[in-house]
This record gives sequence, structure tokens and C-alpha cells, in this order.
Amino acid sequence: MVDSRLLDEQLDYYRERAAEYDEWWERRGRYDRGPEANTQWRTEISQVRAVFDTLPLSGDVLELAPGTGYWTELLAQRARRVTALDGSSEMIAINQARLGKLSRSVDYHQVNLFDWKPTRRWDGLVFCFWISHVPRDRLAGFLAACRDALVEGATMFFLDGQRINESTAVDHVLPGKASEIMVRRLNDGREFRIVKNFHEPVELTELAGAAGFDLEVHRTDNFFQFAVGVAR
Ligand SMILES: C[S@@+](CC[C@H](N)C(=O)[O-])C[C@H]1O[C@@H](n2cnc3c(N)ncnc32)[C@H](O)[C@@H]1O
Repeated sequence: MVDSRLLDEQLDYYRERAAEYDEWWERRGRYDRGPEANTQWRTEISQVRAVFDTLPLSGDVLELAPGTGYWTELLAQRARRVTALDGSSEMIAINQARLGKLSRSVDYHQVNLFDWKPTRRWDGLVFCFWISHVPRDRLAGFLAACRDALVEGATMFFLDGQRINESTAVDHVLPGKASEIMVRRLNDGREFRIVKNFHEPVELTELAGAAGFDLEVHRTDNFFQFAVGVAR
């Protein structure tokens, strides 16, 4: 059971990590796993991108937990408007700076997603590296909120990691199968507890199905798991 103090600690971690966040995605510093693993990481990102680029994510698109904006930038290039909801003002500032003029088509809001209830509907929904941070006992409610946020026929895309040590920093230990809590460190050594889940595809398709999505889950060879859903 994850209490709300841990969810606050998780958000604090991302706020404090914002300036060093992209080291993970770009395989720098403590996330550099050597040339072979880094090349494989980039290859698998390209494979995810190849699918993402074909999805009908246009019109008004919602992005949850957009972080520093890798996916926001891609969405802003193709959507009419993007709504980006993140709990960290530090992440939002970096995201806006990355997008520059493109950020004019993005509506940023600092929102705690554990209190979030959609009050309108969008044509598409994206959340990358967020679902693993949702406690298991909140997952069904989260997916129901996602469905409530979408018009019928809308596309939902989400991406997350597979259980593999090389995806995280050299000084991180992944949680065991019975736990959903792990300790993360910043470059200065400070430690934070966060939620980290690795979902089986069948679990995701069943829960998303119950929430009103037809969902397909795909995996790359090592690092990533992503899903494409259509709101029924
Ligand atoms: C793992 S990062 C993912 C960022 C980005 N989507 C990506 O693909 O790199 C998780 C994001 O969730 C945000 N976050 C953490 N807790 C949150 C909360 N309770 N409500 C809203 N956002 C939260 C963090 O600020 C961070 O931007």
C-alpha cells in the first residue's frame, strides 16, 4: 500500500531532478551503460518513434506528466493544441524552454495527477513513463479518468520501461517483484522513495478494457513497453 506521503516524495524527487532528468533519456552520467547498451537504447527509441509517428494524434491532445518535453515537442508539431499537465513547475519551465515558439500551442498546467479529474474531453492522450509511477491500487481509477478525458474513437498512447537494470542509473536497484517502491538517487546523493511498477501486457489490456479502451501492448527487445488504445 502506497500512502500519500510517498506520492508527495515522488513528486519532490521529480522536481529536484528536473535539471538532470534528460541525462537518463540521453544516456549520460550515471545512466551511461556503455556504447553497446546505449546504441541499443537509441535503436529501440527509434522503433517506438516509428509507431508513434503513425498514430492519429491530432486535434486537441492531452499529455500527462510531460516532464522536460521530448514528447510534447513532437505532439506540438502535429496537434492543433496540446494540454500538458505536470505536477512540477521546474519540469514545465524546462519543457517550455525546449519548445520555444512551439510552446504557444501548448497549455501548461501544474496539476497533481493523483487529484486530477478531467472536466473536458480531448481527441488524443499521451503519457510516457508515467503509468509505472501510479500505485497498483490506483491504476483502475487512473485509466477510468483517462477514458473520461477522451471523445469516442480517440487514440491513447503510453510508453514505459521494461524490467531491466540497464534502463536506470548504475546506483539504482529495481524493486523486487513483490514491491512497488524503489529508492532513487540524485547526482548529489540525495535519496527519495518512488513508486515503480512493471506491468504485464495482459494486466494492462484487461484494466484498460474495463475502463473502456481497446488496447494493444507492444514491447521492444529490451527496454520499452508501449500501448496504443482506442476509446470505445
Ligand atoms: C518519469 S517522468 C516522465 C516525463 C516525460 N513524460 C518523459 O517521457 O520523459 C515523470 C513526470 O511525472 C511528473 N509527476 C510526478 N508526480 C506527479 C504528480 N503527482 N502529478 C503530476 N505530475 C507528476 C514529474 O514531474 C515528471 O515530469
